[in-house]
Amino acid sequence: MAPTRWQSENTEDQSRHYVRRFDRLAAQGVDLHGEARMVDALLTPGSTVLDAGCGTARLGAELDRRGHTVTAVDLDPVFVDAARQHVNLTVHLADLTTLDLGRTFDAVVAAGNVMVFMTPGTEPSAVKRIAAHLTPTGVFVAGFATDRPYTVEQFDDDLAAAGLRVEHRFATWDLRPWRDDADWAVTVARRAQLLA
Ligand SMILES: C[S@@+](CC[C@H](N)C(=O)[O-])C[C@H]1O[C@@H](n2cnc3c(N)ncnc32)[C@H](O)[C@@H]1O
Repeated sequence: MAPTRWQSENTEDQSRHYVRRFDRLAAQGVDLHGEARMVDALLTPGSTVLDAGCGTARLGAELDRRGHTVTAVDLDPVFVDAARQHVNLTVHLADLTTLDLGRTFDAVVAAGNVMVFMTPGTEPSAVKRIAAHLTPTGVFVAGFATDRPYTVEQFDDDLAAAGLRVEHRFATWDLRPWRDDADWAVTVARRAQLLA
């Protein structure tokens, strides 16, 4: 399969550097949990969450700390090793575009640009597989930069093709209102029939 944008833009060493950078920021006490706070607010206590494209599972680990049961998936082995340091998480080395965990989750979260780091053209398959892993009332939350080849408009089309629809869109994880010129999009989507 063609490499993901993450793989074509980053070497294994750069993935290791990314892991070290976030370890350093955490050690410095930098707030790395804005995404987790937002997702936590959407969930009932003790929910099940899939951290999709988990990287180091910074988000998944914080959601676990907040009492949710977290599964994490990434296809970069360096990140999967780092994510496995969080022993409460179930971590899979797997491709979101073909994912089949045989179960569903109350939330699937693709934070930190996962959608724009996929293999070009595979985003619709990933959104369909993510939708297949949602409970009937489950929520899909994705955050990504708006200056990349994969756009918010394409994302909305991919959500619709997967039977999902935008419930909320914000410009930041701390819920600044969406604007068409925002440099970041945080999207909350659910099954279209729930929002009809
Ligand atoms: C910038 S990192 C973000 C990691 C993490 N979510 C965070 O917020 O720190 C983007 C991640 O998306 C993952 N990714 C891209 N395409 C993927 C795919 N098809 N399946 C699984 N993971 C994928 C990459 O391996 C990378 O770990």
